[in-house]
Amino acid sequence: MTRADIIDVRGLSLSAASSAAVERFDALIDDIYYYRLGVQDRLDALLQEFPEFVLAHVLKGYSLMTEGTLDAHPMARAHLLLAEALPANPRERLHQEALRAWLAQDSSARAAAWEQILVEWPLDLLALRQHTGTLFWTGDKRHQAEVTAGVAGHWGRETPGYGHFLSAHAFAMEEIGLYVVAERCAREALALQPQDLWALHGLAHVFEMQDRVREGIDLLSDAARFLNDYNLFRGHLWWHLSLFKFAQARYDEVLDLFDREVYPKSSTFYLDVQNGASLLARLEFQGVDVGLARWERLAQASLRNATQSTLWFTSMHHVMALARSGRVSAVQSTLDYLSSVGTGSTQAALAHDLALAGAAFYQDKPREALEWMLAVRQRHGELGASHVQQDLYDQIMVMAALQLGDLPRVRQLLKARLTTRIWDAATWQAYEGRSRRVDEVHDAAAARAALRWDMN
Ligand SMILES: [Fe+2]
Repeated sequence: MTRADIIDVRGLSLSAASSAAVERFDALIDDIYYYRLGVQDRLDALLQEFPEFVLAHVLKGYSLMTEGTLDAHPMARAHLLLAEALPANPRERLHQEALRAWLAQDSSARAAAWEQILVEWPLDLLALRQHTGTLFWTGDKRHQAEVTAGVAGHWGRETPGYGHFLSAHAFAMEEIGLYVVAERCAREALALQPQDLWALHGLAHVFEMQDRVREGIDLLSDAARFLNDYNLFRGHLWWHLSLFKFAQARYDEVLDLFDREVYPKSSTFYLDVQNGASLLARLEFQGVDVGLARWERLAQASLRNATQSTLWFTSMHHVMALARSGRVSAVQSTLDYLSSVGTGSTQAALAHDLALAGAAFYQDKPREALEWMLAVRQRHGELGASHVQQDLYDQIMVMAALQLGDLPRVRQLLKARLTTRIWDAATWQAYEGRSRRVDEVHDAAAARAALRWDMN
């Protein structure tokens, strides 16, 4: 079969065997960012039929790396080698460079390659979504916003896949506190595709950050009709619904959601582990008896995966599940793994310090837990995740300070936590009111209540 330069749906040149192959590739990209089921099987079939499809090999490599585990690396490397052996245009070469850097765990070089693509080809949806998605996990929210804002002028209603730009832009804007822009973009994306999970997610974050609990419950309860038609990302939306119900202290419903949707069975998928451990911890901090079996379900996954994970925000969650279920040697193996990778990775080294603190907290050593978490307090965000996910760090520190009976420290931590929601004059006003209520926290019950956002 002869190779030819063929144009994709957004007018970008691809080295591929036929326009039919490119149409299938375009559809795959669309379905990946809509979190549809069965995409990987279709990508495998495409590669089997068109083994010389350079960017399809890179896409497969990206998909494998997105799993965030070491055992996916050999297969990703194999696809990189196949891609490198094929003729490719400059844009495809840069994608190979990004994958190569990813395998080398060089996040700066990876970002630089995607950045270069977007400078020259701002409609490269694959580069845009991979770049913003990974920046989220390196914690650079400002950079994430810069990337989507930087290409915004090139995208419009007439651009195929515009909704995928809008939903990425919405979330990037939400994480830097531009809630009006975020909400408008998320709603526009939802008007184009009402089941766009990434747009729903961005809008849910706006509601979460603005304490619009009722709207959050309505949005995600309505989405419940179709969430389970989508891939595992759906669990994170169920988690957000759980948090809205949590804010209303509807703990029985939260536990029911945990068992049915958030973490129904042992899963090593990093988001599932994060969602599950963080939800159980938050419930326990409110005095809810979640039992040991649910932690055990998580620990089973952590036993399999904690020393494979390369998505460092997950590590503390693994350690929490292992420590909470009494797996002392598995906690130590995880810490050893993080310590060893940490010699060459500042993120892994930080993950080690936070995991050490998390383990101390669950091993009844609140003084050490608090001290170690405070030592890196201003760097917690470097492991990525949203403000809402990162709130777990603050909650653990508050609970550790409570156990130490240190109410001044509890109040200071509660106030520091509130600052994640200060972005402008209006949010400052909200902060002032909440801050005054924190000053009235004089016992453990009030401190626990203050951890629920609806009480702030
Ligand atoms: Fe989220």
